Parts: sequence; C-alpha cells; structure tokens
Amino acid sequence: MISKTDSIELHDRKFQLLFDKSQIDKRVQELAESIKIKFKDQRPLFIGVLNGSFIFTSDLVRAYHGECEVTFVKLNSYEGMDSTGRIEEQLSLKENIKGRPIIIVEDIIDSGRTVHHFLKSIQSKNPSSVSVATLLYKPKAMQFDYNIDYIGFEIPNQFVVGYGLDYDGLGRQLDGVYVLEES
Ligand code: IMP
Ligand code: MG
Repeated sequence: MISKTDSIELHDRKFQLLFDKSQIDKRVQELAESIKIKFKDQRPLFIGVLNGSFIFTSDLVRAYHGECEVTFVKLNSYEGMDSTGRIEEQLSLKENIKGRPIIIVEDIIDSGRTVHHFLKSIQSKNPSSVSVATLLYKPKAMQFDYNIDYIGFEIPNQFVVGYGLDYDGLGRQLDGVYVLEES
C-alpha cells in the first residue's frame, strides 16, 4: 500500500517514516558535491549494486555535476565458503576498470559482507582508486573492517524499506525510508 502518511503497511508488517524525500534529496546532493570535490576532473565509474541501489545510484549520478560513467552489478555473497570470500556476480562487470577511479554505490551496508567481497573482486582488477558510497549504514551490524567513504545516514540496527530497499519484494518504489515498527 502506498500512502502519503508517515505509517505504511507492507505484507503483514507496519513501518514508520524515518527519512522523507526532502531529507534524502538534500543528503544525496551533499554526497554528490563531496564526491565531485574529491574527483574534480577525473571521470569516475559509479558501480551500483542491484537491486537495492537502483534509485540511490540514479539520484546520486544526476546530482553529480561532472563527467562520469555508470554501470551496475548484481551480487550474491556467501559466507564461509573459503577464507578469501566469494561473491556470485549474477550480473557481472563488463567494463575494463584498470587504472580507473571506481565508486561502489550501495543502498545499505548492514553486516558489510556484500561490499567486503565485492571490494576484493574490484581491487584485484587494479583500478586507480576504489571508494564506497552508501545511503544507509548500520554501524552496530557491521562485521568487517573497511573504510566507507560516503555515508548518507547512520541508522540503528533495525529493518528498513523504501528508496530502493524492499521487504520481501515490496516497498522499493517508496520515496522515503521507513523503519519496521516493533510489534
Ligand atoms: P550486507 O549484510 O551488508 O551484506 O547487506 C546485504 C544486503 O541486504 C544489502 O545490500 C541490502 O540489499 C540487504 N539489506 C540489509 N539490511 C536491510 C534492511 O534493513 N532492509 C532491506 N534490505 C536490507
Ligand atoms: Mg544492496
């Protein structure tokens, strides 16, 4: 159910508004400006991680006033298969990234596993630099040690939907971020 109110229902659960469209828009503009300051006249390649980052990536690159390229990957990460970590790239990177500045774009960093594995895969292809941008970050859930260069909002360790993120398939199209109501 789509609603203009601060409370929504998806499947069987209720969610409360956490960040509305104007808060997100403002923060995305700020992130894009910080990225532009760092990358100046370089031509970064933004790599959006599907599905969740499709909206954040499109808003971020439209707010980025500089030359850039955009592509997407679709990842599934696995734990404990081997010590180096492994990700299945369901939609893999076709670009040659050697010597290029890369910005990985995530909707949310939760345990940190997906980006941890993807970072290793990207770094093995010798880009000139790798940065990580995420709209949302749950510091209390993070289990890995790497730098996140651009964070939209730090949030508590609670389940959220909207602005690309889903609850069992629903809610991605919402223009705000909503948090699960405790029952
Ligand atoms: P990771 O634990 O950092 O590897 O996150 C894996 C993926 O789980 C994220 O990219 C999201 O797509 C999804 N995810 C993590 N936390 C949430 C949440 O609160 N709501 C919806 N999806 C989430
Ligand atoms: Mg994601």
